[in-house]
Amino acid sequence: MIRFIVAGLCSVLLLLAAADAHCLNAPTRAPNSMVVSANDTASIIGDQVMVDGGNAMDAAIATAFALAVTHPTAGNIGGGGFLLYQPAEADPIAYDFRETAPTGSHPEMWLEEGEYSFQRHHMSHMAVGVPGTVAGLHMAWQEHGSLPWKRLVEPAIKLAADGFVVTDGLASSLQRALRRMQKYPASMAQFSKTGAPYEAGDLLVQADLAASLQRIADDGPAGFYQGKTAELLVAEMQRGGGLITMADLAGYQAKKREPVQGNYRGYQILSMPPPSSGGVALIEMLNILEGFEVADSGFGSALTMHLMAESMRRAYSDRAKFMGDPDFNDLPIDQLVSKSYADELRGSINPEKASVSSSESFDWPTESEETTHFSIVDKDRNAVSLTYTLEWGYGSAIVVPGGGFLLNNEMGDFNAGPGLTNSSGLIGTPANLAEPGKRMLSSMSPTIVTRDGEVFMVTGTPGGRTIINTVMQTVLNVIDHDMNAQAAVDSGRIHHQWLPDKLIYEKGAFSPDTLKLLELKGHLLEARDRQGAAEVIVVNAEEGLLEAGVDRRVPDGGARGH
Ligand code: DON
Repeated sequence: MIRFIVAGLCSVLLLLAAADAHCLNAPTRAPNSMVVSANDTASIIGDQVMVDGGNAMDAAIATAFALAVTHPTAGNIGGGGFLLYQPAEADPIAYDFRETAPTGSHPEMWLEEGEYSFQRHHMSHMAVGVPGTVAGLHMAWQEHGSLPWKRLVEPAIKLAADGFVVTDGLASSLQRALRRMQKYPASMAQFSKTGAPYEAGDLLVQADLAASLQRIADDGPAGFYQGKTAELLVAEMQRGGGLITMADLAGYQAKKREPVQGNYRGYQILSMPPPSSGGVALIEMLNILEGFEVADSGFGSALTMHLMAESMRRAYSDRAKFMGDPDFNDLPIDQLVSKSYADELRGSINPEKASVSSSESFDWPTESEETTHFSIVDKDRNAVSLTYTLEWGYGSAIVVPGGGFLLNNEMGDFNAGPGLTNSSGLIGTPANLAEPGKRMLSSMSPTIVTRDGEVFMVTGTPGGRTIINTVMQTVLNVIDHDMNAQAAVDSGRIHHQWLPDKLIYEKGAFSPDTLKLLELKGHLLEARDRQGAAEVIVVNAEEGLLEAGVDRRVPDGGARGH
């Protein structure tokens, strides 16, 4: 009853104030443009850029820099990521600003006296890859931005210099992170009050970060990859035994790539190609599912969940076998995204019974769940889908002294070492071993769905290995289950990644009867509290509105439009 009263109130509210209502499953709606991100302050900044006449790309640059200040767990200038752009009137393009391995890297760099060292792989200065974010954002802006670069960096400078009010979400996130920062005085100085955790309501000022951002505003990528900022970064590498040199920084190049493309029930799917495994696996799963009547079996039914899990199992197995940096490997992408290959895989799925993942091969290591995604559409229906990361929350937890920005620990996404594949979670297959200049394999999957050449949906999420499955489920929720953007984000999620051979589901999101049926089909089930933080926009062409879904699984998100 209460639900219906609230829903009724929501409809009234939505009529009165289109752009900023958050009701049960009600999307945020606006006619012209929309930004949805994991941090409302950053969304406001992106929205203001479009109010001031900027396009989706301008808004993306400003939002990304703002997140580097207000959402330090994943927003960054010291990490890397991917930006997918679908202009209203031209072909889509993917910008790859993934970190690269420094020149001193080699496949056995994670061994210490012959033994694999998790500490070295994930928690040392050697785990820091050459950052790509500044180069990637600048390249994308140069090609598609319309407002001056400085105008787009400025709001972030102001937030860092003047400070912003710490939210509940940031306070508890920082409190958890402080333990890892203890070793690094510059990190403690920036993210604690001389050792005491920030509390909600405090002002967080980041003066060194403001100065680094100012150099980027003044000099573009040269203000980061050369000169003072680069020198500060390299000094910290030398202090802590890291590998990045001035030459590595000066040599970093963002790359343009052709998005990986598929189609699903008449919609075009555009997503990130390698070095992300995301787009290929996403299209492989959708191709398999296209041959099943997913709309008829319905959201949350045991059959639909089983068919999704079996598609995931197969795509993640291929991901493990084949994926790596395309500039270092020959990858069978065309085959993996072909309809005929999907037909073959579909033929191996028994609707009644779970398959078994072969445990002779290998397991995946654990992967952290801290990254961030935002989606933007502007008044001309240009769209940006951007996911970027420091890898773990707060990356390596190392703030560059004097530079005020966190360094990634993305080198942890490389495989452990040649032949090191074992059942406890290490992988040693060659495609993704560390080599100088190589990009480590990613799951980040910024995705755009178009229909008849027009943007229909923009989606993406953090969540490590779960990213690809979460994105897939947002697409299915909208296309097959006819959900609006908010419902598509709110709905419960599942995850299967081939190995370990278990079906993970969000606690409380599915009925016990359904879970029982899945067990009867042979799935080993495991509950988790939450999966991902998708930020989604759907274009409601009939009503001429953009509808956004903000993921409430994480605090602080916001959709802003006008
Ligand atoms: O690139 C990747 O796939 C990972 N480094 C991303 C890490 C991640 O998503 C953690 N997330 N929430």
